[in-house]
Amino acid sequence: MEMADPRDPRGLRSDAPLLDAWLRFTAQAEAGLLNPMAVPGHKQRQELTGAVTAGDVPLYGGLDSIKHADVPLGDAEGRAARLWGADWCRFSVAGSTHGNQALALAVGSPGREVIVTRCLHRSLLLGLVLAGLRPVWVLPERHPSGLPGGVAVGTVRDALASHPGACAVFLGDPSYVGTTGDLAGHAQAAHEAGVPLIVDAAWAAHLGFHPGLPPHAIAAGADGMVTSAHKALPAYTQGALVLARTGLLDPARLDRAFEATHTTSPAGTIAASIDAARALLARDGAALCARLLRLTAVARQRLAAVPGAAVLDGPGVEPTKLVVLLAGTGAHGHAVEADLIAAGMPVEMADRDTIIPILTIADDEAAVDRFTGVLVAAIERHRGAPRRPVPSPAWTVTPQMALPPREAFFAPNETVGADAAVGRVSAELVAPYPPGVPVLAPGEIITAEALAALRAAHAEGGRIAYAADPTLATFQVITADR
Ligand SMILES: Cc1ncc(COP(=O)(O)O)c(C=O)c1O
Repeated sequence: MEMADPRDPRGLRSDAPLLDAWLRFTAQAEAGLLNPMAVPGHKQRQELTGAVTAGDVPLYGGLDSIKHADVPLGDAEGRAARLWGADWCRFSVAGSTHGNQALALAVGSPGREVIVTRCLHRSLLLGLVLAGLRPVWVLPERHPSGLPGGVAVGTVRDALASHPGACAVFLGDPSYVGTTGDLAGHAQAAHEAGVPLIVDAAWAAHLGFHPGLPPHAIAAGADGMVTSAHKALPAYTQGALVLARTGLLDPARLDRAFEATHTTSPAGTIAASIDAARALLARDGAALCARLLRLTAVARQRLAAVPGAAVLDGPGVEPTKLVVLLAGTGAHGHAVEADLIAAGMPVEMADRDTIIPILTIADDEAAVDRFTGVLVAAIERHRGAPRRPVPSPAWTVTPQMALPPREAFFAPNETVGADAAVGRVSAELVAPYPPGVPVLAPGEIITAEALAALRAAHAEGGRIAYAADPTLATFQVITADR
């Protein structure tokens, strides 16, 4: 009987060409059989910068020769396309950030309108800047918790009817908090208007692989989908998949758009880990997702039983997403988060009223049980008077667009004090991060409400990202006499 390779404990390499190449290359490097006269500059040696570059293999000139690596890459991407029922797939080493921007560059042309959720990740907003697309914003429904729900199909239909020149619909589903909309309904609405539906499914690489999970976006009828392999799947940080069904999207244009902003030196290690995660999903996805569903259900039950605490649940919520609502316990999310970090259990997001841990198919009973216990104890330790929840400003944006994002991005601008900025047009993107949904986008009027909400999030200890002045004392605004 063949011995299992401890570096590939589930024996995935026979179905994963890039993983196989990575295992071969690193074995050769470890055996001292390589003397590369090519990049990367660490030359597979650790005398200078040490272990930090261990396992780093380039795609080109590592996983295969520079002239031949496109062959195993295409093989791996083809396997992923088939698994998701797509007919085009690319592996990105630059996250869903790059994937969103690639898909924005793949539709329409500068000046064309697109229907876009305003609950979008900043990467897609910058995709609109890069592509020169003009957003027609649609707002999500509000979940009873105050958090954003999915966008209603009727909202998108209305937007398409009043903007017949729109060339695509861009949605984010599931949302950052795991709420979902009717993607099949959206696909139908988009297709009736003759335009593609593109879905940022950054958090949802596992969807569609168990009957207890919603179908993934491509299965629901979307034409394009971006997902981070490094978020929901056991892949290297930055690994992402961009998938498409061609027809309304042109494969050559998709390739051009993908390559436009991708590095010419993709990390083979990241690509191989996407390939491995895909092989794992194909073979063991149903069993691993079954465990994840079970573990999340148990954690939900345990957390919902904590007096005052609540968890998002029910129809329209991705069942493996755990969103803990703290307002009724009086515990401050940042204090709870600090205890979790001290216990070696960093979570994905914490604001005053919400804690969002990420559970994935890599978690087992023991890990989730330990985490839930520490979380419950932290809530108890910081328990206080129940309060009314205040949703993050990211969830309550009602944009007032004065200029399209690209025009505003390149317009002359000046820096003014925060109070003087009210009523002016923002030149910058400002987002509490996480979740990375812009509260201010380039070209939007800085309202008193947005400023107050950003200040409140900052005062609570939240990170305000991308602002030139993250203290919010000043803002960059478009000059008045441009
Ligand atoms: C909805 C959404 N889209 C895209 C991204 C970007 O993903 P990545 O970090 O893989 O670039 C994120 C990141 O958190 C996200 O939340």
